[in-house]
Amino acid sequence: MDKIKIIGGRKLTGSVQISGAKNAALPVLIAGLLAETPSRFSCVPNLQDIRTTFKLLTQFGAKCQENLAQNTATIDASHLTSHEAPYDLVRTMRASVVVLGPLLARFGKAKVSLPGGCAIGARPINYHLTGLEKLGAHIELENGYVIASCKKLKGNRVNFEFPSVGATENIMMAAALADGESLLENCAKEPEIIDLARALRAMGAELEGEGTETIRIQGKSSLKGCDFAIMGDRIEAGTFLAAGFITGGEVTVRGLDPLYLEAVLVKFEEAGAIITRGDDFITLKSQGRPKGTDITTLPFPGFPTDMQAQFMAVMAVADGVSMITETIFENRFMHVPELARLGTDITIKGKSAIVKGKDKLVGAPLMATDLRASASLILGGLYADGETIVDRIYHLDRGYEKMEKKLQQLGAQIERIS
Ligand code: UD1
Repeated sequence: MDKIKIIGGRKLTGSVQISGAKNAALPVLIAGLLAETPSRFSCVPNLQDIRTTFKLLTQFGAKCQENLAQNTATIDASHLTSHEAPYDLVRTMRASVVVLGPLLARFGKAKVSLPGGCAIGARPINYHLTGLEKLGAHIELENGYVIASCKKLKGNRVNFEFPSVGATENIMMAAALADGESLLENCAKEPEIIDLARALRAMGAELEGEGTETIRIQGKSSLKGCDFAIMGDRIEAGTFLAAGFITGGEVTVRGLDPLYLEAVLVKFEEAGAIITRGDDFITLKSQGRPKGTDITTLPFPGFPTDMQAQFMAVMAVADGVSMITETIFENRFMHVPELARLGTDITIKGKSAIVKGKDKLVGAPLMATDLRASASLILGGLYADGETIVDRIYHLDRGYEKMEKKLQQLGAQIERIS
């Protein structure tokens, strides 16, 4: 199993190109199932979760030709042969459940394994299922599987109890091929939803309102393949800016719209960094030790839960005390006991963590528990004196393309060891 070895204390400077967004790529590639002719995708990140997505699409009979070294892929879903997503695939990638909508739309039936819980929380899929029922699907749970069927999906009004990203995506895809109009209310407004809407439109879907609470969709009888470039990854970008900040350096990330990261940029500024927003780049210049700053995670446009662990690593070395409150997932502080091994002073009180900034951290062996937690451990290691080894790096590989190479490019002393 691979590990990452870091010798901390180097100031990071320079510029990195951000990869395509994992969380946009997953639903957009899965939307390829809706089209009756082949789709071509570019800016597809070379990640473990993307390889799992191709396995899943192939399982349904789609023909996938991916060249992830070049970040491109073609998906031909003209002849689908299976409507079943097995446990082995769904278990490794929860986002697989968004195949429910497209499978129902194409086959009138779907059998998809329930994903189960994960390290950061229970993560049920009730909003997905209620939404599909509103569009006319009949749903049963049997032997750990969701068995869904319908004659033909019918457009309807769907009001989400909570603006769930995955549920919004699932129902958008189903409604794109349903009979008549759907009105989705209390939708997630995340940028990845906007990217999915753009991809669906490029396939011939008729929809409006993405990025707001209400999305209106006129169902079509069929969709065609598209040629689509996936948006830049705002969480990857935020992580590299955090690396610049924690090491007292100056880092530019290229290839994304700064507006998509505004809630994080404002907090970096509050913590004392100087931020320059360009058309498709962001520069963070550190002004010395960060200042203690509180954050609360919220649905977009609030502070993203996927940046909480990384921001906490920065606050762990700040001048002052900060309070980090997690409102999206119930168990997303798994990085706290690992960061403690570097000498941080963080106390968890319910949904909040009180972080007392420490000037000095010392390298240690650490264990990654989930994707963004791994990134926070890497950040801690970049700051800490001496050697830090981060184990179980497969979590990191699910969501960061060539992270250690990009960090080396910025001057970090970091390497992958087997
Ligand atoms: C997506 C992102 C993930 C991010 C999260 C929140 C992908 C592949 N993953 O996950 O990185 O952290 O958005 O921005 O895009 N919930 C329910 N019932 C449901 C659905 C969700 O109770 O049917 C709860 C979840 O347990 C969680 C909250 O709603 O507490 C938000 O989840 P959701 O927005 O659905 O996140 P994901 O789509 O799973």
